[in-house]
Amino acid sequence: MTPEKQRAHDEARARARELAAEFDAKGDTLGWFDALYRESQGDIDLVPWADLEPNRFFKGWADKNQLSARGRDALVVGCGLGDDARFLHDLGFNVTAFDISAAAIDWAKKLHEDTSIEFVAADLFDPPEAWLQAFDFVLEIYTIQPLPLEMRSRVIDSIASFVKPSGELLVVCRGREDDERPDQLPWPLSRRELSRFGENGLEQGEFEEIWDEEDEQKRFIIRYRRPAANAAGSDS
Ligand SMILES: C[S@@+](CC[C@H](N)C(=O)[O-])C[C@H]1O[C@@H](n2cnc3c(N)ncnc32)[C@H](O)[C@@H]1O
Repeated sequence: MTPEKQRAHDEARARARELAAEFDAKGDTLGWFDALYRESQGDIDLVPWADLEPNRFFKGWADKNQLSARGRDALVVGCGLGDDARFLHDLGFNVTAFDISAAAIDWAKKLHEDTSIEFVAADLFDPPEAWLQAFDFVLEIYTIQPLPLEMRSRVIDSIASFVKPSGELLVVCRGREDDERPDQLPWPLSRRELSRFGENGLEQGEFEEIWDEEDEQKRFIIRYRRPAANAAGSDS
């Protein structure tokens, strides 16, 4: 990153923290996301997580694991401007992608109007019932970490609920040690917190830990799978 880009990125991140604190003080913990997309008025440099590219950790994982669609249905959680959704679409998945911000969804629809991705404005705390255990591949990148720690269990429960029997979930997030106190937004995840996916019936597969030289942060990439319905203890 050039020094100018880095400065712009730092300023965008500082503005995001300011907005998050402002909305939190008003009791509207989630409202800052839409406010940030709106005030950026189409300038991606003002959205600190946006770069119009698929997430590089996810892309690296998908290439290494030869992720293939095989006609499967995918759901992208907190999709922002939709670049990860597009990556899955281009692999051949039937993609639904959602975000709490209507402004982000409008923007994503414009950016990817040449695709069949279904972009939906929705809150993961109140998702359409039809999404419950409905998806073969669920992708979660960086939606858990900007939400307050007190919400962490509920966020994880909701994300887990979208995975179908025999379906998979991939989580890409900032990581921290169990005994490390996160000091500021975005709040990295610990292994202990992530174990909540197991409490939701998901089995943990590969767990990758990466030290990213570029932003000097630890990332976790974890694959989960929901056991097949007849292996989940049903007696039918
Ligand atoms: C840090 S951004 C990451 C966006 C995208 N996943 C990426 O990696 O570029 C977090 C996203 O989650 C969305 N989000 C936050 N809370 C949400 C909720 N309760 N339901 C759905 N989306 C939410 C925000 O609007 C934002 O687009």
